[in-house]
Amino acid sequence: MCGIVGYIGSRPAVALLVNGLKRLEYRGYDSAGVAVWEDGRLAVRKSPGRLAVLEQQLTARPVTGSLGVGHTRWATHGEPTELNAHPHTDCTGRIAVVHNGIIENYRELRAELEQQGHAFRSQTDTEVIPHLIEAELAAGAPSPEEAIRRALRRVQGAFALGLLFQEQPQTLYAARRGSPLIIGVGQGENFIASDVPAILDQVRRVIYLQDGELCALRADGVSIFRLDGTPVVPVIQEMTLAAKAVDKAGFETFMLKEIHEQPRILRHLLLQHAWQEDTVAMPGLGLGAPYLRKLNRVMIVACGSAFHAGMYGKLLWEQLTSLAVETDLASEFRYRDPKIDPGTLVVAVTQSGETADTLAALRMAKSWGCKVLAICNVPGSSVVRESDAVFFTEAGPEIGVASTKAFTAQLMAFALLAIHLGRARGELGAAEARASLQAMQAVPDAIHYVLDRAEAIRRLADKHHDGPSSLYLGRRFNYPTALEGALKNKEISYQHAEGYAAGEMKHGPIALINEYLPVICLCTRTRDEVYAKMISNIKEVEARHGRIIAVATDGDEEIVRLAEDVIWVPPLRDEFSPLANVVALQLLAYYSARARGTDIDQPRNLAKSVTVE
Ligand code: M6R
Repeated sequence: MCGIVGYIGSRPAVALLVNGLKRLEYRGYDSAGVAVWEDGRLAVRKSPGRLAVLEQQLTARPVTGSLGVGHTRWATHGEPTELNAHPHTDCTGRIAVVHNGIIENYRELRAELEQQGHAFRSQTDTEVIPHLIEAELAAGAPSPEEAIRRALRRVQGAFALGLLFQEQPQTLYAARRGSPLIIGVGQGENFIASDVPAILDQVRRVIYLQDGELCALRADGVSIFRLDGTPVVPVIQEMTLAAKAVDKAGFETFMLKEIHEQPRILRHLLLQHAWQEDTVAMPGLGLGAPYLRKLNRVMIVACGSAFHAGMYGKLLWEQLTSLAVETDLASEFRYRDPKIDPGTLVVAVTQSGETADTLAALRMAKSWGCKVLAICNVPGSSVVRESDAVFFTEAGPEIGVASTKAFTAQLMAFALLAIHLGRARGELGAAEARASLQAMQAVPDAIHYVLDRAEAIRRLADKHHDGPSSLYLGRRFNYPTALEGALKNKEISYQHAEGYAAGEMKHGPIALINEYLPVICLCTRTRDEVYAKMISNIKEVEARHGRIIAVATDGDEEIVRLAEDVIWVPPLRDEFSPLANVVALQLLAYYSARARGTDIDQPRNLAKSVTVE
């Protein structure tokens, strides 16, 4: 959600902070700010809106100095105004703080501090932190570190923090609990960041700060302590992401680049895991065959697109194994009573590995004694660190807020794991596994086929983009595809879109159909027994003069007679058809958004990783 960058060294801090914040722009934000130690005082600049607005302010009122923190905010408490933007300071402006997360008990703390005479300027939860530290220093805390520790012990909720003190020109402080924070280790300089891309072009070595740790960074070193004061030995790791992975590589947007990366990513996953004829290689998975054989129940938890991938995973795992599989939204799972026992495998699906609800569901599952398997894209993320086993989707950094390549990589992960589970449990024969693996090998080329027809999809989007609403229909494996297509459309084009199981049409949504409503029907065909049912559903739409846009298998004459427009995809086995069909819907949403003139990589109100509940 919010982004944090901090720097201490000998170079001008502002340029590095702004550069880092730009690299976090994809996470979504509505205001930004910096604080820099300049000539014995802390200079703060902040502004609502995009980074460009802050940059204009920094040009008009420059700040110099080689110690600073920067922040992009996604509003949770208080509107996106200059006053609510970070950094926040204490009464005297001698302590500056940037914060990710939510301070849950800020109302009580604020009331108490106001009673003591502290003057608050913003409506944010964050502002209690500099005031609390100020109060602890006034009450006799012997050092800024100790004041931070004492203050943070009083705080409930999640935080990643960067902190500056006017009286400490040689030190940048950082702390975390619940929200991610990394330390970038350089030569004679050090960084903090909420996410790797912010500092990827500056350092190659990082320390992942752990929950409950406080770090004091100097230009020439770092010291890490637990919040109780116990020293921690820093573990420095080499970063593996190449800087170019966060460039647009000539595409007009990150989203378009990421859509086009999908064949390569899926081919890579197949090469890694599906190089044998009738088994899948899962060397680092961390769940042995004896455990998998005993298993009888699986609970998949996720949010947003990852939830749609989980719905697909459930269908495939049920088809290829005897497991009872359920999929739930992590935000709902947390508040129900799901009767889970330690024999249940909980699968947490998440691109970022930092989604608050998914992380909370994972922690609940662990508290019940269940093993957790993460399907995740970000090594070192909280979900990865806290899970018993991990399948890495290896899609590379996904910068566009709307998930594309991470989603298809999650579908592929479920497909590979389905075969692995079926084989390990002795429920899937060698011949069946071989046939499935062969069929999966056709997926990257099928996606290429769709990408090659992007221009035809663009023309369709130009024709249909301006209505108020659209309906997406699919059945079985393509019901989650319909939901995902509708989500993509509303996220980036701001057009209301609804995904529905086509069989449910007669139970309500058919009332929406008229001669203006685009109805996107997923109707690909190989040996799918639901194809005929889907055709009946399409005829129901046709009879009510709905505008049918079909996603259909090349050469399907029947569809040509029914649909106003057709997006062609090549034949794939039914269970793998969503991997190509969804790419057609990603492009349709993309070009609709372009025609509607929206900000595709950073759609309004959205953040890339939702680290608050
Ligand atoms: O990082 P995660 O996969 O846990 O994120 C889950 C959702 O927030 C995410 O899929 C969201 O729905 C995307 N914007 C979808 O495009």
